[in-house]
Amino acid sequence: MAAADAPVSELQARSDACAARLCAADRVLLASHIDADGLTSAAIAATALERAGIPFETVFEKQLDAESIAAIAGREYGTVLFTDFGSGQLDVIAEHERAGEFVPVIADHHQPADADTEFHLNPLLEGIDGASELSGAGASYLLARALAARSTADERLDNRDLAALAVVGAVGDMQASQGALHGANAAIVDDGVEAGVLQEQKDLAIYGKQTRPLPKLLEYASDIRIPGITNDERGVVSFLDGVDVSCRADSEWRRWVDLSEDEKRTLASALVRHAVSRGVPAFKIDRLVGTSYVLSEESVGTELRDASEFSTLLNATARYERADVGLAVCLGDRDGAFERAKKLLANHRRNLSAGIEWVEKHGVTHEDNLQWFNAGSEIRETIVGIIAGMSMGADGVSRDVPIVAFAKKSDDETKVSARGTGPLVGTGLDLSAAMGEAARAVGGDGGGHDIAAGATIPAGAEPEFLERADAIVGDQLG
Ligand code: C5P
Ligand code: C5P
Ligand code: ZN
Repeated sequence: MAAADAPVSELQARSDACAARLCAADRVLLASHIDADGLTSAAIAATALERAGIPFETVFEKQLDAESIAAIAGREYGTVLFTDFGSGQLDVIAEHERAGEFVPVIADHHQPADADTEFHLNPLLEGIDGASELSGAGASYLLARALAARSTADERLDNRDLAALAVVGAVGDMQASQGALHGANAAIVDDGVEAGVLQEQKDLAIYGKQTRPLPKLLEYASDIRIPGITNDERGVVSFLDGVDVSCRADSEWRRWVDLSEDEKRTLASALVRHAVSRGVPAFKIDRLVGTSYVLSEESVGTELRDASEFSTLLNATARYERADVGLAVCLGDRDGAFERAKKLLANHRRNLSAGIEWVEKHGVTHEDNLQWFNAGSEIRETIVGIIAGMSMGADGVSRDVPIVAFAKKSDDETKVSARGTGPLVGTGLDLSAAMGEAARAVGGDGGGHDIAAGATIPAGAEPEFLERADAIVGDQLG
């Protein structure tokens, strides 16, 4: 990484302080978040601790709150390493630290709370954007590099091979949603390329290039809606039959990865021509091409080969109480855990498409400054945020105002997920502040990032919460 870059070298200094503390610990409790970024964070940290010879145990939490932090303290580890969360809960964590229960080490990228602590690695503390320039896995990667530098003189063991997992985490957190990773993330990509574990390719920016048969690839691509293609099975087949590429081999549909570079170019140009002829605006057509991150050491045609597919596979485990499966895959299990993860993925996919259909069918309600839906028990609270984000731009859901989604967490609590867009953040939207303030006003709590945030509130408080959130977002967008 560029030493001349002041914020990055400040982050490296923080990484080194955190690494020093970990090296001084007898044993460490590693606590991480249950999504793709949290799993990859844990896998990076676990591998680095293992290589450094530091004994540790790993736990996952759906949400880090007073109760789960107290349970962590009860484990009686002198040092607790929090990855992909911790910054937002520092007020509570610092109380346990003051009580002498444990020393926290934090590698996170969420909006920090008011309290601070000595071993705190977070891009936002150095003016680096935690929603688009560095993920939890990226912060964990910096820590892993610092740990390697302290614990071994062997340059081959510099932990740069872990850059591939860091990229999966960043992509899973939608940090490449503008077409490519940038900022500190781009430096991690460079590390991965140099270490031979990553390839960066300009390619079709559609999800499923490794595993989906061509018709499904195009039919399900919903980020950019193309009439006659998106959700149109017959349209797709007639389009593919009209292109000068053999899309079938032995009567089976081929996948994008099965095509030669020439065939890919021919098919991509035909797709662009089709989109133009159906009136898709130029700025959307530009988004059909983007940067793909390929994990060079994984088998071609598997979910693990592409950072985006890998991250969805991980969400399919951890968001369904099977973080152990996702972690094992990240740590290299290509047998039992990978097979199990693929089964979980099929279930996750069904839930995502059923969830989006539910939102389209029931619609959203518009307030002055936001739109919302309440899925009750119809959508799992652990994936309602993903569905809220994916539904922006679907039938009846605007991309011009933020979306707030509710789902039942328990009889007493409601989960809230909110999603915005880059342009809205550009005009002042800060969903982390809005969710946090509105939730605390009704006896709950929340936080996250400017573009994506969440909260937990008492059941029944939804109307008052909405009124407050609507007013706060109104002030932000001025
Ligand atoms: O807790 P964590 O930071 O890992 O969660 C980030 C969430 O925010 C992910 O669900 C991701 O999809 C969402 N996000 C988003 N757009 C961004 C950044 C994050 O929807 N640009
Ligand atoms: O759960 P969801 O994907 O909607 O979360 C979006 C972002 O908000 C994540 O970064 C998550 O860590 C954060 N969040 C939070 N406090 C909550 C719920 C979510 O900080 N109570
Ligand atoms: Zn994250």
